[in-house]
Parts: sequence; structure tokens; C-alpha cells
Amino acid sequence: KSGGFTGKAANYLDERTSISGAVKEFGRKVFPDHWSFLLGEVALFSFVVILLTGSFLTFFFQASMAEVHYDGSYVPLKGVEMSIAMASTLDISFDIRGGLLVRQMHHWAALLFVASIGLHMLRVFFTGAFRKPRELNWVIGFVLFILAMAEGFTGYSLPDDVLSGNGLRIIDGIIKGIPLVGTWISFLLFGGEFPGTAIVGRLYTLHILLLPAILVLFLALHLVFVIVHKHTQYAGPGRTEKNVVGFPILPVYAAKAGGFFFIVFGVIALIASFFTINPIWNYGPYDPSPVSAGTQPDWYIGFADGALRLVPPHWEFVLFDRTWSFNILAPLIIIGIFIVLVLIYPFIEAWITGDKREHHILDRPRNAPTRTAIGAAGVTFYAAMWAAASSDLIATHFHLTMEGVIHALQAMLILGPFVAYFITKRVCLALQKKDREIALHGFESGRIVRLPGGEFIEVHEPLDEYERWRLVSFESHAPVILRPNAEGKITNKARLRSALSRWFFEDRIAPATKKELESGHDGH
Ligand code: HEM
Ligand code: HEM
Repeated sequence: KSGGFTGKAANYLDERTSISGAVKEFGRKVFPDHWSFLLGEVALFSFVVILLTGSFLTFFFQASMAEVHYDGSYVPLKGVEMSIAMASTLDISFDIRGGLLVRQMHHWAALLFVASIGLHMLRVFFTGAFRKPRELNWVIGFVLFILAMAEGFTGYSLPDDVLSGNGLRIIDGIIKGIPLVGTWISFLLFGGEFPGTAIVGRLYTLHILLLPAILVLFLALHLVFVIVHKHTQYAGPGRTEKNVVGFPILPVYAAKAGGFFFIVFGVIALIASFFTINPIWNYGPYDPSPVSAGTQPDWYIGFADGALRLVPPHWEFVLFDRTWSFNILAPLIIIGIFIVLVLIYPFIEAWITGDKREHHILDRPRNAPTRTAIGAAGVTFYAAMWAAASSDLIATHFHLTMEGVIHALQAMLILGPFVAYFITKRVCLALQKKDREIALHGFESGRIVRLPGGEFIEVHEPLDEYERWRLVSFESHAPVILRPNAEGKITNKARLRSALSRWFFEDRIAPATKKELESGHDGH
């Protein structure tokens, strides 16, 4: 046992908690290295920045909607009537030392947080990292994504400026649009007629207590699962489904990740120093009348705003003396279905492929063409909704009609995913063919040689072992075969499954086999 203060302290702790075993065990865990694995870390570290800056803000922000006359140092708003929430946010911005920087860091970190989660999720999706045994961690992760969006929305609703108010007004409209119970729910939520005087306080409790507590809990669970499952890795020499090749957490990985935290922190601080975000003093306090074109939510709420703009008007009928409107319900249902599909995708894919094996080696997206194409279709669908949140800006910037933009985006919403699916699948298959070609014949060198007999050939350069490994070490999987059940009958469910399975594996190109590689010839 080592001496000195740290040694003694460690000893003291260990004798009372037996923690050293756990630390040793954890410290020996090996993490593979790849830039795309940093996306989860960016999310984690920006969340730490959010917690730090958010805690600072709670000392000064006052979640009250009581009206005051502003009396801070921002002259243009002096004497203007506004809520205490807005006035205290202005004080944070103009009268509290470092307040504006921290506020801007909180907001920029929030934008980065949600963006990195989105990219992290795409990485996990397109590499098939959600497959067994990580399906549950995908679900936990997706809940984190939704919590993050809820945190963002409740956050920018707090300052009670024009943007906050308009965001809440849309939420109120959505709620009121629910047939039968809408008005009741709205009154319950706002504590009376919108906007009321209760909502900021209620959102505040959600924003700084309830949602963060759930978020931290799920995040802890998420990271425990990453450790329990061990991290996936990309194919490479010596890497198998049974090992993990990389650096141990202590000291290498911990040092790298620790350093990376400071980089993320520093970048957020730099952006927050140089670029204004949410200048509420320009927007003014909330007042339902001055809503203008170009009022936009934070980027991650855009898809919902856009979805509302894309519903064709007049989807409603009158029954039992009441108007049943689907103008609001339809996008809610569509978004709901989309969210559920993303949430349970790992289980859908496992059912379709019938693949029950564990997967620790990641897929290259091209080697799972159907999944990659489905992903591209999903991204296109999301992108169409997202773009629609800026329909007014697109129309004014490009001198188009509002209706034209909306109709084009409606078409993109419905047809776009099919086009994206088709193109992506073809591109993947072409890349697979190219890989096969390279694995068998090496890279094209561009060097043309004339043989003594007069024939021209292009010299191909051989692959190194690493490249070859990447190109050939993936397994294909066979579709689920149509089999009669115990009673000798073929059920419709089995038919559906087998058809979907054939569709999923359709056209997939097998990697070059050992025999083909040895002979250097295509066995086909
Ligand atoms: C892995 C953090 C959200 C699914 C990881 C890792 C970290 C992390 C640090 C290990 C490094 C890496 O692979 O990037 C977070 C944080 C999140 C979040 C802080 C948000 C608060 C999500 C979401 C999903 C997801 C939205 C999917 C819907 C996964 C999966 C793994 C993982 C399946 C294991 C990947 C593997 O072993 O290759 N996460 N994540 N996470 N995350 Fe997340
Ligand atoms: C405000 C996002 C967590 C405390 C905000 C704002 C956003 C936001 C976008 C508006 C900032 C602005 O005025 O421009 C988030 C996200 C979080 C999160 C995405 C988590 C994922 C927290 C936590 C705390 C906190 C954990 C407290 C410990 C505050 C306070 C405000 C605020 C006090 C009001 C002050 C202000 O608007 O400047 N948040 N936040 N936030 N947040 Fe958070």
C-alpha cells in the first residue's frame, strides 16, 4: 500500500467500501477508438456544461409572471411592463457579472447537446450498434433524446419573451385542437385562460428538477449499459465478436476523455463569447399581438412546427354539435407513429431478419443496404418537416409563393423518403460491388503497362491486411425461410415475416470468400 496523503485516503476509503476492486475492474475496461464514438461523449460533456451553467442561472432567474416595470441598465426597455421572469433574465444578461456569458453558454450548450445526440443516434443506427444485446440501450437513449428536447423547450419558454410566448401559444393551440378534452387540458396546464400567470413557474419545476432528475437517471443507466455490454468496434485485424481492441480506461482513455471534456467546454465558451443567442432584449416581453414572420423555435423543435404547417387545411367535420378537427391531430398522430417506429426499430429489424446472434462488430452502412436506405428515408422525412418550419423564410428569401413552398414540401414529405430509399440502396449496392472488386483485384493504380505482346493492362496495387479485413470481414445473413408451424400450417404472420425478410436481404452482395480471395477470381 502506498504512503502519502492520497495513498492513505485511498486506503481509508477502501477499508470502508472495498471500492478498489471495482475501480481496478473498471479501470481495466478497454475502449476502442474511433472518431464516431466521440459523438456520445460530446453529448455527455455538453450536458455537464448545461448542468454547471444551469445551476448558476438558478441563483438569479426568478420564475414569476407577476408584472413589473423594467428598471435595469438596458435603456431601450426602461419602464416597459414585463414579467419578473423576463426582467430577471435581462438582469442576468446586463447586470450580473458574467451572466450573459453563462446564459449564452447554457443556450449554446443546449443546442450542441441535442445536435450531438442526434448525430450519435445516427451513428448508432447506421452502424447497427443497436443490435443484440444493445436494443434496450437504444430505447433508453431515445428516451434521453426526447427528454433533451423537452428540457430545451421548457428552457426557452422560461424567459417569457416574445419567442417563449409564441412557442407556448403554439403548444396551447395544439392542446386546444384535441377534440373534446383539449380546452380542459389547456386550462389545467396554464392554470386558467392562456397565458395565465402560472405556466413559467410550472415549467421551471419541470426544467430544473423533474426532467433533469429523470435525465440523469436514464443517462446513468445508459452509461452502465455501455460498460456492461462493452463498446462495439469496427472490423479490423485481430478484432472479433469476442474481444475488444482498444485502450484501457485507466489511464489512457480517462485522460483522453478528460482532455476532450475541456475541449468541448472551451468550444462552447468560445461560441458563447462570440455569437449572440436568443437576444430577448430585441424581441421584447411576451405580448400576443406582435408575432412576426421568421419567428423560429430552437432547431430541434422545428420538425414539430413544420409538421403543423404541412397539414392541408379543413380536415374537420361536425358531429354531435361539435367540431372534430384533424388539422392538429393528424400531425400529432404522424409524429407519434414516427417516434414509436424509431423507438422500437431494433426489435422490428431483429424480427424481420430473424437474427438472434450478438453483434459487437459494427456494420459498415453499405453492407446493410436496406437498413441504410430505411435510415436515409427517415432522415428525409424528418428533413421535410424541419424545412417546413422555415417555409415563410424560404418563400421570402427565394421569392417564391408560400403555397408553392408548402406544396413542394408536402410532396417531399411523402415522396422524398421513397426516392431517398431507392437511391441510397442502389449506392450501397454499388459500393459493395466496388469493395468486392477491390478485395479481389486490389486498388486501381492508374498505371497502364503495355505487355510485350502489345496488350495494355492496368496494374493493380495489392491491399494491405487492414484494408482487406475491412472489406471482407462481414457476415451476411440469410432471410427467414417460410416454414409451416407445429400444426403444419403456414400462418399469415409467417408469410409476412418471410416476405419482409426477403425484401430486407434482397440484392445484398456477399463479401468475397476465402476461396475467391486465394484464387483472385470472382466465383460468380
Ligand atoms: C453509446 C452517451 C443518447 C444509443 C454511448 C456512449 C456514450 C453515450 C458516451 C459511448 C460512446 C459512443 O459510442 O458514442 C449518450 C448521451 C446521450 C445519448 C449523453 C444523450 C443524453 C443516445 C441515443 C441513442 C443512444 C438518442 C439511440 C437512440 C446508444 C447505443 C450505444 C451508445 C446503442 C452503444 C453503442 C456501441 O457500443 O457502439 N452513448 N447517448 N444514445 N448510445 Fe448513447
Ligand atoms: C434556461 C436548455 C438543463 C437552469 C434555458 C434555456 C434553454 C435551456 C435553451 C433558455 C436560455 C435563454 O435564456 O436563452 C436546457 C437544456 C437542459 C437544461 C437542453 C438539459 C438538457 C438545465 C438545468 C438547470 C437549468 C439542469 C438547473 C440546474 C436554467 C435556468 C434558465 C434556463 C435557471 C432560465 C434562465 C435563462 O433563460 O437565461 N435552459 N437547460 N437548465 N435553464 Fe436550462
